Amino acid sequence: METVKGLKRTHYCGDLRLEDQGKEVTLMGWANKTRDLGALSFIDLRDKTGISQLVFNKDENEALYNKSKEVHQEYVLAARGVVRERSSKNPDLPTGEVEVECSELRILDVAKTPPIYIKDDDNASEEIRLKYRYLDLRKPRMQEMLTKRAEITRLFREFLHDQSFVEVETPFLGKPTPEGARDYLVPSRVNPGYFYALPQSPQLMKQLLMIAGTDRYYQVARCFRDEDLRANRQPEFTQVDIEMSFVDMDDVMAMNEELLVYLFKEFKGIELKRPFSKMSYDEAMAKYGSDKPDLRYGFEIHDLSGIGETADFDLLKVSPENGDAVLGINFNGLAEKYSRKKLDKLASYAKGIGASGLLWLKKENGEVASSFNKFLTDDLVAYLDRELDLQDGDLAVMMVGDRAKTQDYMGMVRIHMAGENLTFDPEDFAMTWIVDFPMFEYSEEEGRYVAMHHPFTHPVEEDIPLLEKEPEKVRAKAYDIVINGDECGGGSIRINNAELQNKIFQLLKLTKEDIENRFGFFTEALQYGTPPHGGIAYGLDRLVMTLIGRDSIKDVIAFPKTQTASDLMTQAPTSVTRDQLDELHLKVEMDQ
Ligand code: AMO
Repeated sequence: METVKGLKRTHYCGDLRLEDQGKEVTLMGWANKTRDLGALSFIDLRDKTGISQLVFNKDENEALYNKSKEVHQEYVLAARGVVRERSSKNPDLPTGEVEVECSELRILDVAKTPPIYIKDDDNASEEIRLKYRYLDLRKPRMQEMLTKRAEITRLFREFLHDQSFVEVETPFLGKPTPEGARDYLVPSRVNPGYFYALPQSPQLMKQLLMIAGTDRYYQVARCFRDEDLRANRQPEFTQVDIEMSFVDMDDVMAMNEELLVYLFKEFKGIELKRPFSKMSYDEAMAKYGSDKPDLRYGFEIHDLSGIGETADFDLLKVSPENGDAVLGINFNGLAEKYSRKKLDKLASYAKGIGASGLLWLKKENGEVASSFNKFLTDDLVAYLDRELDLQDGDLAVMMVGDRAKTQDYMGMVRIHMAGENLTFDPEDFAMTWIVDFPMFEYSEEEGRYVAMHHPFTHPVEEDIPLLEKEPEKVRAKAYDIVINGDECGGGSIRINNAELQNKIFQLLKLTKEDIENRFGFFTEALQYGTPPHGGIAYGLDRLVMTLIGRDSIKDVIAFPKTQTASDLMTQAPTSVTRDQLDELHLKVEMDQ
């Protein structure tokens, strides 16, 4: 193989333009495509910036022409030559007006035929793309993603640095932090039988930094969570983690609005309007059936629990005092798009997510049709007209059941219908803060209250007296930032007093021993002078998805994992040798 010795790259492949005509240039990259045309041979040379056409002329340099014919797809090349105007231009390429007439060609490495095409729309399966990720990453849109992701991270750092935040690295090998997922554990060789936990977030470390007087901290932090992987989740992901001292909610939210305004302005050229909208958790659940509502569209949920009074239909006669509700959405203008067959499909979708069923009613050309015609009366139609503002062409959907569950189902149907029917302007960003979260939620599974955010969140002061008797009524000083239906970040004001912190632990049914073992170091630290403090963590991967318009979290991470938390390229996780296990004093017992 040849080397680059004596050759210096003068341009990237995507750089060349008509103005460069006559210049001698040296390019380096991969052979994207080769082709022949009589006495001419062409190679499209690709690097991360684009493609330039190289041309070899048999009549002018036969040896070089012959060498160019040895080149196959993905060979690594260096080429020197003069830029000239093309006779047949390619308007699809930024460099399409020129080509490089080569006087030197070096083959720096050969390549096996790649299992995927190096082009954006190659349609390779996800499995193959992940197995050969280094080839997948050669695609222009993947290189573009890496560059843009780095740019977004740089903008975060730039803003936070300018605002006197100090980047501090916190340990990977530590104690469990309760963010609600399972921990990834790492056995300690030198402390047999003991384990570190990889951080689910740097939560306690950043609070300790506030106790330490750091005042303003941030970190581009890797977090590890062993949880069931739904869409938009990865077992290891990145947060931009932020904490500040001597602040209350308004200060943290104001600083973060400035940060997001800066980010959107610098990265997208979009001026976000401040202050951002704020919505309480209860309102979000009632209107959108989600604590991360997508506000780019309406389709709001309406409470139709009074419908039983007008309807002679037992199903619709609910008792709100028992926690039941009838909820409905007007999918404006969608009546004609939903045939009976499609509505049956929608009902099956509702059943699939756990709902007991779904009722529908359409108004079309002055006629009313519904899935409950037998019970349809003028009064009932009038009620729905009034409550849902039904117009000709509208499709109404209703569900009946436990209010909280039905809100969830309706929220999912809302998103499903938007996905099926709406298209969005990629430059449209609907952001909102969600505030007034409940401090606790009851976990049926665990038979106790669990912290909705995490147990270090400060309760709203005026709700503190309710802690013992009516914990479900206590609101948290927590806030999430939601962009286009995605929770891109969340944070809170923290408890800065050991007594209150212990009380919260006790309410969460942690025993004294538990508290001591798990958080003793922390509750002790709280006693040495803790400033009021609070912060936020952005899910960087999700934010990058939103900002660059990608649908899958795997498309914004260089080396992502699959649903089963495996890396198809390296085959991690793998079994380890007996010796390695012995060293760690571990035995693996597998069920047969
Ligand atoms: P939280 O658990 O809400 O808060 O996480 C903050 C943000 O991180 C993102 N996120 C994830 N992204 C990808 N894959 C995952 N598995 C995943 N889990 C979370 C989300 C989320 O909004 N310590 C607190 C923050 C604080 O209180 O300051 C925390 O970690 O975008």
